[in-house]
Amino acid sequence: MGRVHVLDHPLIQHKLSLVRDKETGAKEFRELVEEISLLMAYEVTRDLPLKEVEIETPVGKARTKVIFGKKLGIIPILRAGLGMVDGMLKLIPAAKVGHIGLYRDPETLEPVGYYCKLPPDVEERELIVIDPMLATGGSASAALNFIKQKGARSIKFVCLIAAPEGIERLRRDHEDVDIFVAAIDKCLNEHGYIVPGLGDAGDRLFGTK
Ligand code: PRP
Ligand code: URA
Repeated sequence: MGRVHVLDHPLIQHKLSLVRDKETGAKEFRELVEEISLLMAYEVTRDLPLKEVEIETPVGKARTKVIFGKKLGIIPILRAGLGMVDGMLKLIPAAKVGHIGLYRDPETLEPVGYYCKLPPDVEERELIVIDPMLATGGSASAALNFIKQKGARSIKFVCLIAAPEGIERLRRDHEDVDIFVAAIDKCLNEHGYIVPGLGDAGDRLFGTK
């Protein structure tokens, strides 16, 4: 069963409180989501393998460590996942970025796919799928299905806020995928929004409400 990691670093939690605040405007919201994503990238990459290398410092030889092993890929779920890309790329700039376009039908809450463009060597990469919100889990589960159909074998899912329903769905549908989350909230409301959550992440990022 995939593990659930709640990232309780004080900086993440502080910034998440600011992001939740309905008075936070689009500019600050975008900046905070980027900063939280950078901090989450730090935790999510904690288990990357290292190998020893020898380098020469100005003073002498040193045996030191560098990241080794599979290359990384970052896959934002459009559109709100875009808000997390730059923060992640600041820490892992060599990662390739793939995109999956999905929106949630407001009536049925079912995900509707409209775009998928992934790095060609997706099966050889460690993939980090990102979306700020995991509500029913329908979008994330569909995105992971798409990626697996394209050959992906090693995937982590990262979100800012999850509902218990979304966590349960993702763990049931994709038991090989670890979930990294900054907060697990109480429940979903009748419109499928996370309570208390932060509202509609895409609209708040892009000012479309
Ligand atoms: C939001 C969010 C997730 C999805 C979560 O996207 O960014 O992708 O809803 O809901 P779920 O877990 O119930 O599927 P939305 O459909 O609003 O699209 P957008 O990112 O284009 O705004
Ligand atoms: N999508 C969002 O943007 N917010 C929610 O609370 C649920 C789904």
